[in-house]
Amino acid sequence: MANAARQAPPAWNAVGRHDVFPKASHDEIARFNFLTNLNIHLASQVLPGVRKAYDKRVDEGASPSNRREVGELLKRESVYQFWSSLRRNTMEMRQQNSRAMVFRQLPELVDKAKKLNEDSTSLQLNAAVETPRYMSAVDIHCMPGGYHTEYCKDDIAAGANYDSGIFVTTAGMLGRYSDGGGQALVEWLKQQAENGFCPRRILDIGCTVGHNIVPLAQAFPDTEILAIDVSAPVLRYANARASSLGISNITFRQENAESINAEDGSFDLIITCMFLHETSSRALPRILGETHRLLADGGKVVHIEQPQFTPDMPPYEQFMRDWDTRNNNEPFWGTLHDLDLFEAIEHAGFARERISTLGLFAVVDEELFPSAAKAASDSEDFGRKPAWHAYIASK
Ligand SMILES: C[S@@+](CC[C@H](N)C(=O)[O-])C[C@H]1O[C@@H](n2cnc3c(N)ncnc32)[C@H](O)[C@@H]1O
Repeated sequence: MANAARQAPPAWNAVGRHDVFPKASHDEIARFNFLTNLNIHLASQVLPGVRKAYDKRVDEGASPSNRREVGELLKRESVYQFWSSLRRNTMEMRQQNSRAMVFRQLPELVDKAKKLNEDSTSLQLNAAVETPRYMSAVDIHCMPGGYHTEYCKDDIAAGANYDSGIFVTTAGMLGRYSDGGGQALVEWLKQQAENGFCPRRILDIGCTVGHNIVPLAQAFPDTEILAIDVSAPVLRYANARASSLGISNITFRQENAESINAEDGSFDLIITCMFLHETSSRALPRILGETHRLLADGGKVVHIEQPQFTPDMPPYEQFMRDWDTRNNNEPFWGTLHDLDLFEAIEHAGFARERISTLGLFAVVDEELFPSAAKAASDSEDFGRKPAWHAYIASK
């Protein structure tokens, strides 16, 4: 129990608010808190039992050599079935709780966003941009309608749903504003500045509601930032959210990252954050190609993702990390993490010797979130922990 107490997640009430953040009722907050705690319980108390069951099978003579064989063993174990079905359910319930909360106040939220976006030149939508098939074919991570579905005119429901629910899945480990990745990038950029790398024009690809680009805009207010996404509802929400947080140096524009409407060499820094795994085998090379075309000489591209499945990653860990492919409507997750990203980035035009990797941890406010900050450094949930690999390519 000491372990569970140490990892108690912050209450959902601590989540960062702004003018378009949905209002939650007592019962909605209670549900979010229950789900957050259930996630932590599953990771810290039930998951070790899955490992025990696996080790017992190995002690009895099983010797799985790849993640498929690990799966064959584990899917017959009741502790794995229990953990996996509850984990799926916490995701389904998170989405349903956020969705019900957002829909009961949607006209009001749409109105608020509309007012914040009305005279704004920083929101540039383009109805001619089509949603890629890989996005419309599944409800990505059990989010009904994905990021792109519009339920009414000027809709922002997908953005409000994502913004209010992500805290549950990450158990607060990404911070108040779910921006731990962006905060980590800010720290990295401050170190880079010591070596003379000070980007003036930044592109964020697949920005969703802007969680991880807003910290860069705040830390570098003189920087010009373009944040693109293919989905209009999240962009409307992102622009309203950024505006209510006092940001004026981000333009949110609807674009397909496979073919971006910008001149060659337009940016000194291009970032993607937890984005590549939500694309496809066809889209990925095109997107990487665009990053090479759009990057200025002397610039850098940074891709932040969960760790790749390398041959030195044990099959058990690969199987557990691949859970999202099989159970969380993330069809490209495993394929992306199996790829040699060095090769893929090189294929896009970057010199191999100018591509490197870096470990990044979410930077979380330790005063507000002592347990989350601690958990970020010492727990593992095979995909939930905010510890990433960044692939950095320089031109
Ligand atoms: C997991 S979210 C990215 C999270 C975000 N980068 C952050 O830091 O919070 C994936 C996003 O990519 C967008 N997306 C997927 N394919 C895209 C494409 N081809 N072009 C532009 N955006 C795309 C989706 O609409 C979605 O908002």
